[in-house]
Formats: sequence, C-alpha cells, structure tokens
Amino acid sequence: MSKLWGGRFTKDTNKLVEELTASIAFDQKIANEDIQGSLAHVQMLGERKIISEEEAKEISEGLLKVKEKLEKEELTYDVANEDIHMNIEKFLIDEIGPVGGKLHTGRSRNDQVATDMHLYLKNHTYQIIDLVEAVQSAIVSQAENNIDTLIPGYTHLQRAQPISFAHHLMAYFWMLERDKSRLIDSLDRLNWLPLGAGALAGTTFPIDRERVAELLGFDEVYPNSMDAVSDRDFILEFLSASSIMMTHISRLSEEMVIWSSQEFQFIELDDSFSTGSSIMPQKKNPDVPELLRAKTGRVYGSLTGLLTVLKGLPLAYNKDMQEDKEGMFDTVETVEGSLQLLAPMIETMEVKSENMYQAVSQDYSNATDIADYLVTKGLPFREAHEVIGKIVLYAIESGRYLLDLTLDEYKKFHELFEEDIYDVLAPENVVAARNSTGGTSQQQVKLQIEKAKKMLSKA
Ligand code: ARG
Repeated sequence: MSKLWGGRFTKDTNKLVEELTASIAFDQKIANEDIQGSLAHVQMLGERKIISEEEAKEISEGLLKVKEKLEKEELTYDVANEDIHMNIEKFLIDEIGPVGGKLHTGRSRNDQVATDMHLYLKNHTYQIIDLVEAVQSAIVSQAENNIDTLIPGYTHLQRAQPISFAHHLMAYFWMLERDKSRLIDSLDRLNWLPLGAGALAGTTFPIDRERVAELLGFDEVYPNSMDAVSDRDFILEFLSASSIMMTHISRLSEEMVIWSSQEFQFIELDDSFSTGSSIMPQKKNPDVPELLRAKTGRVYGSLTGLLTVLKGLPLAYNKDMQEDKEGMFDTVETVEGSLQLLAPMIETMEVKSENMYQAVSQDYSNATDIADYLVTKGLPFREAHEVIGKIVLYAIESGRYLLDLTLDEYKKFHELFEEDIYDVLAPENVVAARNSTGGTSQQQVKLQIEKAKKMLSKA
C-alpha cells in the first residue's frame, strides 16, 4: 500500500507500527474541522496565486464532495493512511486526481492538526457554555420556588445553622458562573490560528495567514511558528476548566445522593432519573448523580494524562502530541453529557420541604442565635458562647430542643434572657436575621436570584 509520504522508504510499514501510529480510529471526529481548515487554506493559496484559481476551485469542490460522501458514509477510512488529514487528502486525490496533491502546498500536518483542534474545541466550548447556562437556569427556577424552604446548613456534615434551600442551591449557580467564565476566558487563546506555521519554521510560499484567520473566524495568528505547532495549552486549559467544573458537578451530585437517602429524605429524584435494583424491589437508586460523581475521575485522568505527555517534550512537534485527542474528546462528551442530565434532574426533583423543616426545628442549629441575642444585649461574644454551650448541654441532657426550654430555665443561665428569646429561636427568624450581603435571609436570597437572572439574560 503506497503511503502519501512513501517516497523515502524501501520497505512496507510493520503492521503493528501502523496500528500504533495511526490515529484515524479516533481523530475521524475532526473530519469536518479538517475540511473547513483545508477550504480556507486552499482559497488563500488561490488568492495568492500560489496555485491557480482554477486549481483552488477544483480542490474546494473536491473537498465538498468528500465531505458529502463522508456524511453519507460512502467512504471508508483506511488505517494505512494513518490519520484524518491523510485519509481526507487521499479521498480528495481519488476524487479529483493529482491536482488534489496541491492542497498541502505551504502546509504541514503539524499546523493542520493544531488548527483542527482549535476549531473543534472552540465549537464545543460554545456548546458547553450554553449547557452550563441551562443548568444555571434549572438551579434558578428551583431556587425561586424554595426561598422560604428551610434546610439545615452543615459544616463538617454536622448541622450548623439553618438556611434557605434556595441559598444552598444558588451556591452551585455561582460555581458554574465561574466555570463559565473560565471557558469564556479560554476563547481568547483558542482564537489564535496555528495554520501557516508549516512543520515548525514557517514556509517558503508567500502565504497570507491573516487571510486564513479571517476566513476561519480567528482573531490572531500565532506569532511564533514553533509555538504554534507545539502548543497544547488550549487543550490543557479546557481540561483544567472541565476538571474544576466536574468537581462542582460531583459535589452537587454527592449532595443529591445524600439528600435522597432514607436517612435524610430531603428530596426525591424523579422516577425518570432513578433506577431500580435487580434484587431489592423497594429500592430507588440515585444512579445518575452517582455516575456524574464518578465520571469526574476520567476528566481528571485526561488532564493528568496530557500534562504528563507534554511535560518533557522538546520543541517543536513530537508524535507524543497525537495523544492529546482521546482525552479531549472523552472530556467533551463527558462534560456535555453530564450537563445535559443535570439540568432536567434538578428541574424535576421533588423538594420535601416538610422533612427539611422538621430537621431544622429538631436540632440545636439556632444556638448561635441565642449567643448573638446575648451579645446584642451587651454580653461579649466569648462569654455568650460559654453560656450557650452550657444551655445546649442542659437541653441535650433533658432531651429537649432550645425552643422547648422555659424562660425560667433560660434565666437560670443568664439574667439578660427575656420573653423575646423565643422569636429569635424560630427557624424562619434565624434565617431572616442573616441579612448581611450574600447571607441566607430570604431578602438577600431574593436579591441574589435577581442578580443571577440578570446575568443569565445578558449572556
Ligand atoms: N495525527 C497527527 C497528530 O495528531 C498529525 C500530525 C502528524 N505530524 C507528524 N509530523 N507526524 O498529532
């Protein structure tokens, strides 16, 4: 089988070597981007008279024909042609004859593959940003329905202070907002065009890189051809941003698993987002959040994998860099798939507000408020803390909650206690009292949701 680069060789490639070096099994995902890049390149070659206008036209039409045939699955990739770039070039030559061989003038697979990857990632970054916003909208709509729903807030997974359930959910809105802004920020760098760098040193042909950038929708061209072909930071950035985002998705998923347990019973996942057990008929398992939590691992793996591939590479292109692809494709699929599931899962979950309320009224999470009460009446916080500690111990020992103690009992601990202590202790008031900016009070949560909605509508 003759190779596109076969001229210098006297022997056929070993079969196993062919399999090792070929990337066609996975890089066929960037077929469209490859054709898109070639169309722009060939147009520029024609405009600059590096090839004739007729040849450029013939090649463009040939590429479009190849694209059409690929879409109709009329062409079969051949591992002997190694990767997507050479497979497409081969299809093109089969389609229009030797003139197809002029497409690769002034170009190398090194700047070509980097360009394809930029195009692919740019496209998916926009898609992922949209999907993040869909999850944010789902969070906002659940939050709006649950401003007055109270739930214990936890630290160390011990009940700490009661909060609005909307406040808890909205915390994830802001995490996703940062995730989104990391992705948006990465677009600045994704918008640099590598094409025209040649194999590493540029090209002898009078190409016009700015023109290709314009045709492909890039803002800038890489100013250094060596950097252009050896840079994979843009993929690392995507994998890092995705890893952080998956951390957030995993934390939310973990909470959903906990909240839907028998012990908590704070939410119930919709039947359409749950699965059963093959042996225990009573079970409704939170497989979806469990898998989202678990899928985080492969995204971290891809980040670590690529960092490791790149860390010792001398400039410029090395074949090692072909290993940038599968992890990136897998991450795109994992992140897109996870976000697609998350939005409807949040939207359809049932919030069991009575159970949540029961939890906030049957605990000692209003203890800080009694301390604050004494502080308002003039006692230093440290002393108040000590007094309340004793009251909590007394209440626990007598099997009651803080709202159940009588005023006489309170007065035994400190003479500053009055009848108004009971207002302070009601969970609604405990929440409403945390009215500092960004706090959990119903009023602050409403402001927060308003701000979030404004940001979403601007996006
Ligand atoms: N399939 C290769 C990759 O993904 C394309 C670049 C090949 N360049 C080379 N000099 N062998 O990295």
